Amino acid sequence: MKKNLVVLTGAGMSAESGISTFRDSGGLWERYRVEDVASIEGWMRNPELVQNFYNTRRKELIKAQPNAGHTQLAALEKEFDVHIITQNVDNLHERAGSTSVLHLHGELMKVRSVYNDKHIYELSPEHCEISMDDRDKYGDPLRPHIVWFGEAVPMIGPAIEITESADIFVVIGTSLNVYPAAGLLQYVKHGVPIYLIDPKPVNAPQNMAIHFIRKGASEGVAELTQILTSQQPPK
Ligand code: OAD
Repeated sequence: MKKNLVVLTGAGMSAESGISTFRDSGGLWERYRVEDVASIEGWMRNPELVQNFYNTRRKELIKAQPNAGHTQLAALEKEFDVHIITQNVDNLHERAGSTSVLHLHGELMKVRSVYNDKHIYELSPEHCEISMDDRDKYGDPLRPHIVWFGEAVPMIGPAIEITESADIFVVIGTSLNVYPAAGLLQYVKHGVPIYLIDPKPVNAPQNMAIHFIRKGASEGVAELTQILTSQQPPK
């Protein structure tokens, strides 16, 4: 039976694809006020500003390609049951071929009715911009399918279950500043090896034995692949 390899990813995973992180120097939260564009209060105050912010993010995403880190994680499915829990709203894991991807903070290429959160629609690259004038087939206005600050995180329950099932747990490219995502580490079972890939020091829990790989996502996942496949029993 294949081992369960659970991977928690953040913005650093997609940095080498040209997508800005949030808190690095030059990151998105230096250029925009998080409370204006990524909070429920910001949406209430100025929804057009919020729509424009996500329209711009979508246009960037369409031009971006998965990087070697994404494709190597997809390739690990040959040897492991790989489950990705991502804070990223991009679709680069899926485009790289990963088959089990849980989005904690929503998905950029989806929108939903402001009145019914079950009415979710996939945008196409050709029609990826929305405005407050757009309506769905029920006549409802649309909002980005994103979890904003101040909103519940509906996928945290399934993410905890996946984390508890891990035989190996890997963290890639997240500053571990945002909860509840950062708290997932507490659900990793005792004795499960934890690897953390990030070029910079990360504020990880001190009470856990974490194997740090101080590299960017592409190089880091290559090193991780070497470590993990060398530990696999011969076929
Ligand atoms: P951050 O911007 O907080 O952290 C990015 C992490 O990626 C940092 O630790 C960087 O050192 C690391 N990094 C930078 N380049 C890298 C590379 N090439 N390879 C690997 N790592 C690299 O982003 P997140 O932790 O993902 O939420 O942020 C969490 C949440 O905060 C986001 O999902 C978003 C944001 O506000 C919402 O918008 C709801």
